Order: sequence, then structure tokens, then C-alpha cells
Amino acid sequence: MDISKDYELFLEHILGLMVIDREGNLVYMNDQCAEYIEVDRGSSLGRPIREVFPPSTMERTLTSDEDTDSDFYFRDGRVSFTRRTKLKRGNEVLGVIEYDLLQEIDALQQFIEKYSHILNAGTKRTAEQLKSLCKTNYSLADLVGSSAAMNEVKQQVLRAATTNSTVLIEGETGTGKEIIAHSIHNLSRRTFGSFIKINAAALPESLSESEFFGYEHGAFTGAVKGGKKGKFELAHGGTLFIDEIGSMPAHLQPKILRALQEKEIDRIGGADSIPIDVRIIAATNQHLQSRVSEGKFRADLFHRLNVFPIRVPPLRERAEDIPELVMEKVIELNIDFGKNVIRVDDKVYQKLKQYDWPGNVRELHNMVENAMNYVDGDTLEWPHFNLRVDNSRIDLDRLKGYDKPIEHIRNEAERKLINDILMMYGGNKTKTAAYLRIPRPLLYQKMKRLGIEL
Ligand SMILES: Nc1ncnc2c1ncn2[C@@H]1O[C@H](COP(=O)(O)OP(=O)(O)OP(=O)(O)O)[C@@H](O)[C@H]1O
Ligand SMILES: [Mg+2]
Repeated sequence: MDISKDYELFLEHILGLMVIDREGNLVYMNDQCAEYIEVDRGSSLGRPIREVFPPSTMERTLTSDEDTDSDFYFRDGRVSFTRRTKLKRGNEVLGVIEYDLLQEIDALQQFIEKYSHILNAGTKRTAEQLKSLCKTNYSLADLVGSSAAMNEVKQQVLRAATTNSTVLIEGETGTGKEIIAHSIHNLSRRTFGSFIKINAAALPESLSESEFFGYEHGAFTGAVKGGKKGKFELAHGGTLFIDEIGSMPAHLQPKILRALQEKEIDRIGGADSIPIDVRIIAATNQHLQSRVSEGKFRADLFHRLNVFPIRVPPLRERAEDIPELVMEKVIELNIDFGKNVIRVDDKVYQKLKQYDWPGNVRELHNMVENAMNYVDGDTLEWPHFNLRVDNSRIDLDRLKGYDKPIEHIRNEAERKLINDILMMYGGNKTKTAAYLRIPRPLLYQKMKRLGIEL
């Protein structure tokens, strides 16, 4: 071997190799690293590391007293253990060089097994625990779509993950707010902490405060012996995801605000406040600012939540994502349904792009799933879609066969409407009734009368 010729080959064999200069700009990155973190090497060189790879903490080493340190990165369910060192010539610091010691969970598992005896028992975690933690429900890879709007959302997710700020995710139903919340948690330094979810719209009125804040022993009749932790306490060290924050009961809003501001909570019946370290991610499918204008949501709480807003665009604003979303779903369903669909006819995309998708990706997924039932060959075609999207004209000939044509059409329209809304909400009857502005029992009656089954 010839060192002068082969040194680049040597560099290529170091995992995750990156170098930044004193200003924090990326001056070198090997191909292995670019591939691992999924960035384009050519266009990344010379740019601030913060932009190229937002989770990076390399810059800290520049200003640190220590010359060398180590860190973990958690990304998309993968973990890397990295080591970096100040690059010095004499006493002058030129930048920082970073490389990975481990890039996969399996390597980490082996490492832990081998060295667990020297790891402090208090910080020791079994490889199994690590594995399950790294695979929490969703990660960024589950967020399908490469439209400019969706890419912007993904960038925001990456950026939000590097901060500790409260995130407010606003988007219509079915736009992926839950995936986003999970992704932020998984990509953040809290990924080893818990991800706790609470839905502000589904709180039992009498228990709502204790759900959030917990209670002490004997706080009220029916209370569990020894008291109970609330969601804030359960999320300590991790993330609390408050879904449907727009429906937060008015009496709880000031208490939530206090928890966010003071970083402490009071259990019901408790004497002392309990300090909490929790990152809040809130989501809503209502326009929260309008709820504030209507006087239904406190302005101060809104501003406290709106620190890092992420607006998820509805599907109709990014119809170019439809083919990718359909194809992903088809591939997933091939496995479940034992089918082998490898093509989707262009007509399908044309038609789907014309629809306005009130239920967004959830509705699209349901529609694809429904269509997949009718395919035999390898191509998904428009007729498989049951004409659900088409507002086809009434078949006048067919009407002749009915005694009460108007009633028949009325029932048909009602059936279609209820079916579509149920579909939009993935079969959720509470949401469907709310959407149709009818009480839930009436929805049940109608479904029974019209023969609608889930
Ligand atoms: N961009 C996306 N890529 C892939 N799947 C998606 C995407 N957006 C949504 N989904 C899927 O659609 C369904 C609904 O997503 P999710 O539960 O995150 O919606 P949401 O915004 O929280 O809706 P809601 O306001 O009704 O709770 C899920 O099955 C999710 O996997
Ligand atoms: Mg949701």
C-alpha cells in the first residue's frame, strides 16, 4: 500500500467521519457518513453543520474545556455512539473531528453485553430495553411524502428535536400529527425517557385534573390507596404529548399554564409542589388562534404553547404526494392481503388528485385498503375504487323501480355521507357524530336504519 495514494481509502473506512472548522462549517465528510445520515455530500460541504445535520452536537466540543468527548445520536430508530476531538495544531484549535464507534443497535448490544460488568448499575440498560426504546411506534421514515411542503415539515421536525421548546402541531384530521409528535420525541435527547400521551378531548370531566396532575392518598372518595401519578409526572424526563389541546377544559387551562411556566405541578390534595422536567408537544386539528379569538382558549396558554409551531398541510395542498402515499400503502397491504400489486394505473392518480380529502392521509389509506380488496392482477385500477370519489349522476332509469324515489335517493345520500365520514375518521363514531353535528345515539339509529356496518 502507498499511504500517499491510499489515505482516502483509509478515511472511507472510518464510520461517520466528519470535520468542522472553527466556525462550525462542515469541511470534510466521508461517503459512509453522508450515506448513513442521508445527506448529499457534495452540497453539504462548506455549510454550517447545524443545517446539514441538525441533531449534531459537534459544535459543543469547539467551546468545551475538554479536548475529547463522546455522545449518542438517536435518529429514525437508529443509534450511533460517537467520539470527537478538537483538531489542534500546536495550541491553535482548527476545528473538531468526529467519528462513530458504533452505528447499529446490534453493535451496541454486543458492546453492552461485553462491558455491562463495568457499567454502573444505575445507568445500565439492557440491550432489549434499548432496542424497544429505539423502535417506538413511529419515526420520521414513516412520514411519507416528498413535496416541498412535506420536506419543510420534516426539516421542522429535525429542528424541533434538537431543542427543548414546546411544539404546537396544527393540522387537519389525518395529516400525521401523531407520527410527527412521536418522531420529534424519538429524534430528541429525551428518546430514552417516556413518551406519554393524553387526549384533552377525551377526558372524563370529573377526573380530568387528576389525569394530568395526579392525586395524593385520600384526596377524594374513590381515590386509589397511596395516591396516583398524573401524566406530567409519568412523563418526567421525557415527552408529554397533549392531543386535541384545543378542547382542553377551561378550568384546566390555567393549571396547565402554571405547570409549563413554573415547571412544577401540584397533585390534588398534595402539600408540596413537585418539580417536573417534561417536554410538551401539543396537537390540534382546530385553528387554535381562532379558538383564542372566540374566547374558548386562553391567549396566554396559546402563546406559551406556540413557541415552535409546526403546521402540517392538508393533503389537497400537496396532491403530488398522493402517488408515493398510495404506493407505500399498496406495498404494505400486499403483505397483509397476500396480493402482488406492483402498478397503479395513472387514471387512479388523476382521479385521486381531483378529490379534496377532508380526512387526509387516513382517508386515502382507507380508500386504498378498500380498493385492494377488489384487485386480482398486479395493477390497481380506477374501477377497484368503488366510485367512492365520483359524484356520479343519479341513474334515472334505475329510479323507476322504486315506489318512493325521493325517499330512496335521500337514504342513499345519507348512507353515502355517513359512510364517507366514518371512513374519513377510520370508523370512529364519536368523531363522525361530532362532524355531522348530531348526537351519537342518533348516529347509531341512522346506521341501523340504513344498514351501515363497520
Ligand atoms: N405523511 C404520512 N405518511 C404516512 N402515513 C401517514 C401520513 N400522514 C398520516 N398518515 C397515516 O394516517 C393515519 C392518521 O395519522 P395520525 O394519527 O398521525 O393523524 P392525526 O393528524 O393525528 O389525525 P387526528 O387529528 O384525527 O388525530 C395514520 O395511520 C398515519 O399512519
Ligand atoms: Mg391524532
